[in-house]
Amino acid sequence: MVRDAVKVGLLGLGTVGAGVMKILQINSEQIRSRAGINIEVKKILVRDLKKPRAVEVESSLLTTNVTEILEDPEIDVVIELMGGLAARVHVEEALRRKKYVITANKDLMATAGASLLRLARDNGRNIYYEASVGGGIPLIRPLKHSLGANKILRLVGIINGTTNYILTRMDLENMEFNDALAEAQARGFAEQNPENDLEGKDAAYKLSILAGLAFNSQIHFDTVNVEGISNLKQRDILYARELGFTIKLLAIGEERADGLTLRVHPALVPLTHPLAGVLYENNALYVEGNAVGEVMFYGPGAGALPTGSSVVADLIDVARTINHHVENGIIEIAFHDKKVVPLEELESAFYLRLLAEDQSGVFAGLANAFSEEMVSLDMIIQKRSREGEAEIVLVTHAEKEKSFNAALASIQKFSGIKAVKSVYRVIRK
Ligand code: NAP
Ligand code: HSE
Repeated sequence: MVRDAVKVGLLGLGTVGAGVMKILQINSEQIRSRAGINIEVKKILVRDLKKPRAVEVESSLLTTNVTEILEDPEIDVVIELMGGLAARVHVEEALRRKKYVITANKDLMATAGASLLRLARDNGRNIYYEASVGGGIPLIRPLKHSLGANKILRLVGIINGTTNYILTRMDLENMEFNDALAEAQARGFAEQNPENDLEGKDAAYKLSILAGLAFNSQIHFDTVNVEGISNLKQRDILYARELGFTIKLLAIGEERADGLTLRVHPALVPLTHPLAGVLYENNALYVEGNAVGEVMFYGPGAGALPTGSSVVADLIDVARTINHHVENGIIEIAFHDKKVVPLEELESAFYLRLLAEDQSGVFAGLANAFSEEMVSLDMIIQKRSREGEAEIVLVTHAEKEKSFNAALASIQKFSGIKAVKSVYRVIRK
């Protein structure tokens, strides 16, 4: 059959959906030439037909009825940009009806990706999800294809734009947490439920996707250790700076002899570390492979046009596939199921902020508790916070987390310690 266009149904016209439509409008000639065929958006699903849109589209394209897209035999490709797990039924229906699927939905790919990709394979189709991690930065394709010759040893990155935006504004401009969050939301970086960003869940979804591809393993989302930034205080950012660090929300995945380690948590990063220079909504990912060495990917991790750029790149790939009748293989369904190592078996250095009685013996007691658990101290600051009370900030050397936790438990029982205010890991490499 000779076709004049690849026809698309878009589910969602919010931040990313509008970015996709804008790119299709401004770069139409180049996209047509790269795809080798016209691309036509035939219908767009929204919740509210009257809502003002960030891009001009014919009102006749909009619908609130998803069956107008899923049941239209002319539509070859469904681009899912609604977000959330409720989109799953639409993605499944699209695949059963032999439509290609493109999505930016990390929640869905991290929790149901394996089953959806099997459904795609059973229907002779594929799911493309470059935009689900790192916004405009190419990460999925490099891990699937370009770095395929390597055994990947380690991934370390900043993969949530909203939290990085908040941390940057708090650190460089002394902005309040809630004001920085409101700006990140106004700029379209945050999830519909921003708790997913703040509590580290969004980054954990993304780490699950990346780790699956990097370590060739089925990742069960609930095996990722997750801690967010919602309790972070400006004081900790200031102390970190005084000690020569900044605080970032990191996602880390490693393959060790005893299994995988997968974690998302805030960490102090030396100001000289390249990740310390990743500011605002930008993301960065280090990938360490046994053949290539260290590779770093950097760029805008959220926002309409950067994320739209990844979606439209997937669309060009799909259009070429449809036009030339060739299919890229789905490698994700051949993953192993590797063991994940518990966090307490890892070695980490820690930053700790405490309030203590300003009296003799407190310091000695602290030092004792650490030395009994074989945890050695690297840096200490003590300041009077108010009459009779001292604020103590410590940085430990790297030891088993189990030992640090035991030292922390014994400190908390010590009468000179009034409160443990903050505990964060320190990453030096
Ligand atoms: P958004 O601005 O909230 O847009 C969601 C769109 O989906 C809206 O147009 C909404 O319609 C429509 N929609 C949602 N539920 C619907 C329903 N039940 N029925 C009909 N329409 C529905 O979200 P977004 O920021 O574009 O994010 C979309 C996806 O991309 C998410 O999976 C997100 O995680 C991912 N992502 C976002 C970014 C980013 O920078 N924002 C970056 C990478 C990935 P109305 O407009 O009528 O309300
Ligand atoms: N809410 C996400 C972020 C969007 O801030 O990184 C990009 O995936």
